[in-house]
Amino acid sequence: MGKVINLVLTVVVIVFGVLFRDSLESYYKKIRNTFVPHNNKGKNVYTLEELAQYNGQDQSEVYLALMGTIFDVTKGTKHYGKGSSYHYFVGKDGSRAFITGNFKDEGQDKDHILDLTCDELMVLLNWKKTFKEKYKQVGYLIGRYFNLEGKPTEYNRQFSERIENCKVQKAIEQKEKSKYPPCNISWSADEGSRVWCTTSSGGITRSWTGVPRQLYSPGAEKPRCVCVNVTTDDSTAGMFKEYENCPKTATSCVIDA
Ligand code: HEM
Repeated sequence: MGKVINLVLTVVVIVFGVLFRDSLESYYKKIRNTFVPHNNKGKNVYTLEELAQYNGQDQSEVYLALMGTIFDVTKGTKHYGKGSSYHYFVGKDGSRAFITGNFKDEGQDKDHILDLTCDELMVLLNWKKTFKEKYKQVGYLIGRYFNLEGKPTEYNRQFSERIENCKVQKAIEQKEKSKYPPCNISWSADEGSRVWCTTSSGGITRSWTGVPRQLYSPGAEKPRCVCVNVTTDDSTAGMFKEYENCPKTATSCVIDA
């Protein structure tokens, strides 16, 4: 008897499914389209699975996450739509590929960026700025950068700390670059390499020209050519090395024949 009831029920479900297929489909779509992200203390947070729905098909909007912040990039469909150059980024956090350009990376670490260089991290920040300016920020991805409440994680804090250190390092480098601007460098078959100083070499505009010297920086493998201001600096100090066969006061030196 039980078997008969089961059979009848199965047949009823199948017939119902076939007859009301269209209605069921539109009901299902309606449910999907009314999906609301978890609103946690005023912050919209999404799980990875939820974010993955925003691919322009399961959900009509197109979202991507950059360092855990989710943007609605639907208006950029020409970049992110199926078959477009940057479709890889859709429905996930592929922050690392913004630097590596590896649009095949589906590994766990595709949003890991702390091992990148300062310059690369700055590029990422620049991307975030671009996204903020161009697209609407819709929430936070629960994971590496934000917790369930949409609050920054320890990883996120470490990222901010790295950025602060990078800014300090950049400022020190910039100060050193102004004090010892890089030389101009050229090469020709006849002459070989030549280094020389002008009042704008190294992109540093100044009132003095300077003389080319090799500067040994801690940690650097090779010396680099800098212009030393002879009126304020001792160009014979131990940290500087003169170029061979080049007069002490010359502003231009041929460094190999
Ligand atoms: C690491 C490699 C690269 C990454 C991660 C990258 C990423 C992107 C992204 C995300 C966009 C869309 C920006 C938006 O939403 O407005 C974009 C746009 C664009 N990219 Fe790339 N890109 C890369 C390399 C390249 C290269 C090598 C070229 C050129 C040969 C290129 C040319 C363009 C152009 C022309 C646009 C459209 C700009 C516009 O319409 O506003 N990209 N890129």
